Amino acid sequence: MSDILRVRGLTKRFGGLAAVNEVDFDVREGGISGLIGPNGAGKTTIFNLITGVYKVSSGTVSFGGQDITDLEPHRVAGLGVTRTFQNIRLFKNLSVFENVLTACHASASYGLADSLLRLPRFRREEKAIKDKADGLLEILGLADRKDAIANGLPYGLQRRLEITRALALDPRLLLLDEPAAGMNPDETEQLMRLIGEIRDRFKLSVLVIEHHMDLVMGLCEHIVVLNFGQKLADGAPDAIRGDKRVVEAYLGGGDQ
Ligand SMILES: Nc1ncnc2c1ncn2[C@@H]1O[C@H](COP(=O)(O)OP(=O)(O)OP(=O)(O)O)[C@@H](O)[C@H]1O
Ligand SMILES: [Mg+2]
Repeated sequence: MSDILRVRGLTKRFGGLAAVNEVDFDVREGGISGLIGPNGAGKTTIFNLITGVYKVSSGTVSFGGQDITDLEPHRVAGLGVTRTFQNIRLFKNLSVFENVLTACHASASYGLADSLLRLPRFRREEKAIKDKADGLLEILGLADRKDAIANGLPYGLQRRLEITRALALDPRLLLLDEPAAGMNPDETEQLMRLIGEIRDRFKLSVLVIEHHMDLVMGLCEHIVVLNFGQKLADGAPDAIRGDKRVVEAYLGGGDQ
């Protein structure tokens, strides 16, 4: 299997602090990889560097063989890297369906003129977009909440809605930042299964940041461990579980 994402020498300094320091890792095409590490280890910063939210201090990111280092976020998304956020970002006062529609529109191909003139192409595409949104909501188990206002959804379903929106942009690589945060064990278990299903059905690759060790170990084929901005280890779950440095720095940390 080839690598869809390659991160080399990735470094981000905020003033004197190296939040991410010379990090190298790969994400295999079609694989589910995990990014773990204690609070403040630099996990979210890595997502922000991959997606162009932050400019790198040094190092490179390549996606599908193309150098995407420091591209604008919308261009990175356009190439097929989409994400969810640690702090949920939704249109809180819009319905579930509208939230997904706005994301589907972002990847539609018609222009403003088509939509203003309501040309047949626009109407055809509108229909296709609505069908796509319905289909995604069905797969993500949100179809029966279609008309609910996003803000009123239980936390776990808001996280699912965010994943739906990320999928609506037709990613080849999906980045999930703590998708199970705030979920109970049942919801976490369901989410884990769902992420596997999404990977299989949409034939995409996943990189997930997660604190729930069960989720990471059960779901990921490959795990990258960060500590104080540096890569401590990476490998298969069993190797990570048995890695002394990882156990000391993270797993044995007491609060996991
Ligand atoms: N925009 C910023 N300006 C200054 N410092 C920042 C900025 N973003 C992140 N940092 C710092 O970089 C370090 C890494 O933060 P980051 O959010 O990447 O950690 P994390 O691994 O995602 O942690 P958590 O598990 O708490 O989400 C922290 O010390 C954080 O305070
Ligand atoms: Mg974070």
